[in-house]
Amino acid sequence: MDQIINVARNCKRCVVLTGAGISAESGVPTFRGKEGLWGKFKPEELATMEAFMANPKIVWEWYNWRRQLISEVKPNPGHYAIAEMENIFDNFVLITQNVDDLHRIAKSNNILELHGNISRNKCLKCSEPFPDDQEISPEEIPSCSKCGGQIRPDVVWFGEMLNAATIQKAFDESSKADLFLSIGTSAIVQPAASLPVEAKRSQATLIEINVNSTPLTSIADFFVPEPSGEFLPKLVEGLKDKV
Ligand code: OAD
Ligand code: ZN
Repeated sequence: MDQIINVARNCKRCVVLTGAGISAESGVPTFRGKEGLWGKFKPEELATMEAFMANPKIVWEWYNWRRQLISEVKPNPGHYAIAEMENIFDNFVLITQNVDDLHRIAKSNNILELHGNISRNKCLKCSEPFPDDQEISPEEIPSCSKCGGQIRPDVVWFGEMLNAATIQKAFDESSKADLFLSIGTSAIVQPAASLPVEAKRSQATLIEINVNSTPLTSIADFFVPEPSGEFLPKLVEGLKDKV
């Protein structure tokens, strides 16, 4: 820990990448692993355009179930610690693969949401936003006021492109970082998994926080095999002490 704090306190541009593991301690299921969502459900049957075209009702039932689950959980000390890091570094950017909104609720401001946000809706055809305070009935899926297309959740499905400006900014920030933290991600889903690699190639110190090792572990400068909700508050306290 002391070593990590000593390195981190000399850094000016910090980029954090989070995955489902940051929200695990809040009670949001991760995707992979024994209890993960993809162990119980098949991605291609739920999180693809083909699935939605074939059976929009089932896809909406699944997203409504996840929305319900997420509405009942709260950010954990890991989310709050990341929000505090914005005040510690001269430049701080949070990149998340999560769609659960917990970073925003924990008051992080500068967030790049790579995979969208489950609380938002948009049109399948023209991407026009649709009010997100409206509950979507899987029996009667509303249609877009502009083009009549069906309304879908504003998340990135398998096989879809990420928002070009968002991923470009994520790569730019990663290549400029002097400190990069990869937190609670299995680091296998592209293009997000390339961000820490890009940071490392650009000379950043790479710290991985994950209860399991990943393909990233071998190139990380530090690997912290601890739950993020336990480690991050200690890190932030240590950084504050030394400012
Ligand atoms: P995964 O479910 O693939 O990985 C979660 C990671 O968190 C694993 O490596 C766990 O070891 C780790 N983990 C679990 N609990 C933890 C804890 N308390 N503290 C630290 N680490 C913990 O989730 P992601 O990497 O986020 O994409 O998955 C990436 C993408 O794949 C998701 O955004 C989603 C999914 O398909 C889309 O929906 C487009
Ligand atoms: Zn439309």
